Amino acid sequence: MQNLECSSIDEAQKDKKRFQWHYNTNSVDWDELSNLYKIAPLGDKKPEDLKIVFENSRYKCFVYNKDKLIGVGRALADGVDVSYIADVAIHPDFQRLGLGKDIVNKLVEFSKGYNKIILFASMGKEPFYAKLGFDKMNTAMAIFKNRQRVLDMGLVSELKY
Ligand SMILES: CC(C)(COP(=O)(O)OP(=O)(O)OC[C@H]1O[C@@H](n2cnc3c(N)ncnc32)[C@H](O)[C@@H]1OP(=O)(O)O)[C@@H](O)C(=O)NCCC(=O)NCCS
Repeated sequence: MQNLECSSIDEAQKDKKRFQWHYNTNSVDWDELSNLYKIAPLGDKKPEDLKIVFENSRYKCFVYNKDKLIGVGRALADGVDVSYIADVAIHPDFQRLGLGKDIVNKLVEFSKGYNKIILFASMGKEPFYAKLGFDKMNTAMAIFKNRQRVLDMGLVSELKY
């Protein structure tokens, strides 16, 4: 854990107050964001693609420690019915401090009143979202650009009719 000497969860919580939260893309360095996803890890995301998806997302959170981007998340939302949370990631040095929870809770708060708040969890991350109040969707369906890859990963399965 970088620069943190926390002897208890309470101290870690207090320490989190030094982080700065931004809710717009004004000061985002897209290369830095792309690098954060690489090391989190949450895959290879091109800076130019990230600029488009974040600018098209109604809600976003960027968390900084001094000038360094350490946490992120966004929600693509239509204003009334559905808010789709995506791309939540925390720098490895700052994971397990409650920051991921804070980001998801903030996006849920922004989405208050919507009929549904949905997301697609990475494999193994379901318990993290379950703790934050998310239920498993039994009828979720998707079309992926790289279908074979997600089939191989076990993220989706074919329904034959
Ligand atoms: C998943 C991720 C966002 C969690 O963020 P975090 O800041 O480390 O998690 P938090 O400290 O806020 O954890 C909140 C709670 O979830 C639990 N939790 C966190 N990660 C978990 C995991 N992988 N599996 C199970 N529980 C987890 C914590 O123990 C904590 O539980 P508690 O409230 O009972 O103490 C972070 O590990 C990450 O960025 N991972 C890589 C990218 C990724 O997979 N993103 C999610 C895409 S769906």
